[in-house]
Amino acid sequence: MAQTMLLSNLCIYRKKYGGELSRSANTELESGAGGQTRARDRPYASNMKMLLRTLALAVGVIILIPAAFLIVAPNLNWSAASKPGFLETELGPYIIGKWVRTNAPPRSNPFPANPETLQMGRDDFNEHCASCHGLDGNGRNRFEGDFYPRVPALTDQVQKLTDGEIYFIIAQGIRFSAMPAFSSHHDPGEIWRIILWVRHLANLSPQEKAQMEADVKAQASEHEREMHGTAPPDAGRN
Ligand code: HEC
Repeated sequence: MAQTMLLSNLCIYRKKYGGELSRSANTELESGAGGQTRARDRPYASNMKMLLRTLALAVGVIILIPAAFLIVAPNLNWSAASKPGFLETELGPYIIGKWVRTNAPPRSNPFPANPETLQMGRDDFNEHCASCHGLDGNGRNRFEGDFYPRVPALTDQVQKLTDGEIYFIIAQGIRFSAMPAFSSHHDPGEIWRIILWVRHLANLSPQEKAQMEADVKAQASEHEREMHGTAPPDAGRN
């Protein structure tokens, strides 16, 4: 029985590995019937052993790493109230940045900035973005909550992104962060007009700035009134 199995295995080996392997396997078969394994047959056997060991090790590692992660991960700190570790603060932005640069459409805003398009962009921004990024894009959210990754200001580093990159981020969102994807509920024109307003936020005139600060203050006072029935004097500083 064992002989038959060995023989059929041999046929497979022959087909797979050709003459040389089957020759040495043949001698193994001869010696398997009680004889001594000859010295020249050993390399094949030990090569097979090594191959099997390597395979076992590879399978072990492939199973062990995710298993170890599943055991360790729940014991890490997933709170949004404290700053995360190196992997999230350094590696995360690197990976997301590369993903954005690779996939962003290579085009600039097809809409011209004029009072009408800016007003449309502003309305959408105030409705969908300002609660997190601030009416003036300063990155201070309206929820009195802590975010990690932090909600960024849109007025400094973000202005170095291309129009296409900002478009891609708004359309796709960023998983594992609070940044939502807007492409299913907003047509491309709406997103491009929001980007006009995001660009404008970095170049507000002193009057616009003053008006916006007043709006932020009014919003904060309203919030305090709703929550506590009073508006503290520093409301609006958030
Ligand atoms: C619920 C909160 C929330 C809302 C609403 C939101 N964002 Fe964000 N946004 C975030 C967070 C958090 C990040 C940081 C993501 C990260 O670092 O991975 C972010 C990142 C971004 C970035 C990338 C910044 C960078 O540094 O690369 C842009 C651009 C942006 N948001 C624009 C917008 C616009 C425009 C809107 C509205 C259409 C919007 N966001 C709505 C929370 C929000």
